[in-house]
Amino acid sequence: MSIDSLTALVRTIPDFPKPGIQFRDVTTLLADARGLAELVDHMAAVARPLDPDLIVGIEARGFILGAALALALGKGFVPLRKAGKLPGKTVGIDYVLEYGTDRLELHEGQVPHGVRVLLVDDLIATGGTALAAAQLLREQGASVLMALFAIDLPDLGGMAALEADGVAAQAIIA
Ligand code: PRP
Ligand code: ADE
Repeated sequence: MSIDSLTALVRTIPDFPKPGIQFRDVTTLLADARGLAELVDHMAAVARPLDPDLIVGIEARGFILGAALALALGKGFVPLRKAGKLPGKTVGIDYVLEYGTDRLELHEGQVPHGVRVLLVDDLIATGGTALAAAQLLREQGASVLMALFAIDLPDLGGMAALEADGVAAQAIIA
């Protein structure tokens, strides 16, 4: 399946969750067996040569692709969760979204100092979420080898913002 065919499986819903937002809905791609398998294959082909120690996925849609990628690469998976969801002691960071503000948290000690991490999410828009995630991981002493996304919204500049911050970034669909 070509990248164009994968792109065609992503549906766009206007004015969600707020007027003016063109929401790129990855659930239509995830629901397609071949599309899902090929998307994960593409992501694994980018990630495998980096040989990360750990896959870190961002709530919520980053859990789906991050866990699939962790299984494909034979690595462990650590979730970055929204505020108040993790039961143990956490470290966290607040950030600004395309349509609001939010907070990401991580179980203390789950990303050990010196670990080499691949950060995964379904989509990058402004880059605020991924920048915050990378900052939180760096504060734990991890190195972020790459931030890898299924979808980039290039007009919103997120990939450039990540790279300006020294985080290598790649997306399968732009
Ligand atoms: C979406 C998406 C990314 C983020 C990208 O998640 O899955 O995590 O927004 O936006 P940014 O590059 O402008 O920061 P959202 O915050 O909507 O949460 P969800 O996955 O829980 O729906
Ligand atoms: N997250 C931030 N902006 C988004 C968009 N336009 N579509 C889907 N998820 C998003």
